[in-house]
Amino acid sequence: MPVLVIVGGQWGDEGKGKVVDQLAENADVVVRFSGGDNAGHTVINPLGEFKLHLVPAGIFSSRVLCVIGNGVVINPAVLMSEIAMLNKSGVDTTRLAISNRAHLVMPYHIMLDELEEKSKAGKALGTTKRGIGPAFADKTNRLGIRTCDLLDKVGLKERLSMVLEGKNTLFTKVYGAPPMALEEIYTKYCEYADFLAPFIKDTEMLLDEAIRQKQLVILEGAQGALLDPDFGTYPYGTSSSPLSAGGCLGAGIAPNRIDSVLGIFKVYCTRVGNGPMPTELMDETGQMIREIAHEYGTTTGRPRRIGWFDAVAARFSCRVNGLTSVALTRLDVFDTMGTLKICTHYMLEGKKIDYFPASVAELEKCQPVYEEMPGWGVPITEVRRFKDLPKQAQKYLKRIEEVMQCSVNMACCGPSREQVIQLKTVI
Ligand code: GDP
Ligand code: IMO
Ligand code: MG
Repeated sequence: MPVLVIVGGQWGDEGKGKVVDQLAENADVVVRFSGGDNAGHTVINPLGEFKLHLVPAGIFSSRVLCVIGNGVVINPAVLMSEIAMLNKSGVDTTRLAISNRAHLVMPYHIMLDELEEKSKAGKALGTTKRGIGPAFADKTNRLGIRTCDLLDKVGLKERLSMVLEGKNTLFTKVYGAPPMALEEIYTKYCEYADFLAPFIKDTEMLLDEAIRQKQLVILEGAQGALLDPDFGTYPYGTSSSPLSAGGCLGAGIAPNRIDSVLGIFKVYCTRVGNGPMPTELMDETGQMIREIAHEYGTTTGRPRRIGWFDAVAARFSCRVNGLTSVALTRLDVFDTMGTLKICTHYMLEGKKIDYFPASVAELEKCQPVYEEMPGWGVPITEVRRFKDLPKQAQKYLKRIEEVMQCSVNMACCGPSREQVIQLKTVI
């Protein structure tokens, strides 16, 4: 059985949680590999509606081992309350394993996220304020504290004391903010350590074993390609790689063991936070889609910005991720729409282009070139086979496939697990 990576193809919130939950029914292992609790993955299945920030969306399938990989930064308080929430709903979390190499989000990371955003004033990124950027910065700067450090309380205190001294200098001397107390943080993290210790493992060894035994392993991405620190709309993006390559590093699985990469895309675009979005709709059409689809952030509740499907960005995303197939979500949102638009190219300073510019300044100048298609005007939420879709919906799907230059193997027509049209297998 193969290894499948599932990634967000746009600016996040494409419906990764839903698709992972659906495919996990036949999986053995599901691994979250990047981001932190900035992610918010919604799952609606027979057990209820859940918003997951750190626990992999495979947790609802009773035989699936769920792994939080080394590439995730973990806020232990958020993880513990998520485990409690799941247990309260009768979901077994004993099949959860946490990498001993994953970094921790510390209270000073959250404070720094807040202060850095404030200091950027009009140029703020619009982060989720979960401390994600500062936690990944500390990881790269070799100032991080990891889950394995929780298992050595003497060592933890020494390291925390050294790191906190630097942060407190920053708080008091640069930001004019009060310092944080070592004892308070240490005591809290010792409590977290006691709770989390049984879950902390050498997860890349578990994954190696699962792959050797030919089990089906799914890597669950967070965020989306256009938020990638290298290929996204830098600096308006996140701090770890949401790309398929990030799956190898963030789970500890070598590239030659990946078999397929499934990209999740909405039939339109959304973005939370700041930064360029060439097809953004500032008019009543955008407002209408936001309300029909209830496009408000899963993690922060912020209204999501809405735009038409951007095939320039989608082709770019297919390429940098090496997608082997695509799942389109939210097809049902267009049930009552008249005319639909797809952006096939951009106009940049009088020239028609079909690449995704690196520079934010250039992206902001890009004007979308649209083609139009009629909507279908009937509800499709009960449809389960491609041939039962209205002809216009079939045509729309096929056109998206053509302009993306990638095979659409799944289409979702509602938020619940069973609201899926399987065109071809994805594994
Ligand atoms: P994720 O971060 O990629 O997991 O996505 P989010 O959970 O943040 O946002 C996706 C939203 O779309 C959630 O509210 C899902 O319940 C919902 N959703 C997913 N697929 C569909 C679909 O095909 N139709 C509709 N109407 N909603 C969907
Ligand atoms: P899921 O996994 C949508 C966005 C934030 C902000 C930028 C940086 O649910 O798709 P950060 O807190 O990461 O430093 O914020 O990235 N962002 C997301 N947008 N979905 C997400 O995750 C996101 N995670 C971060 O809104 O623009
Ligand atoms: Mg989300």
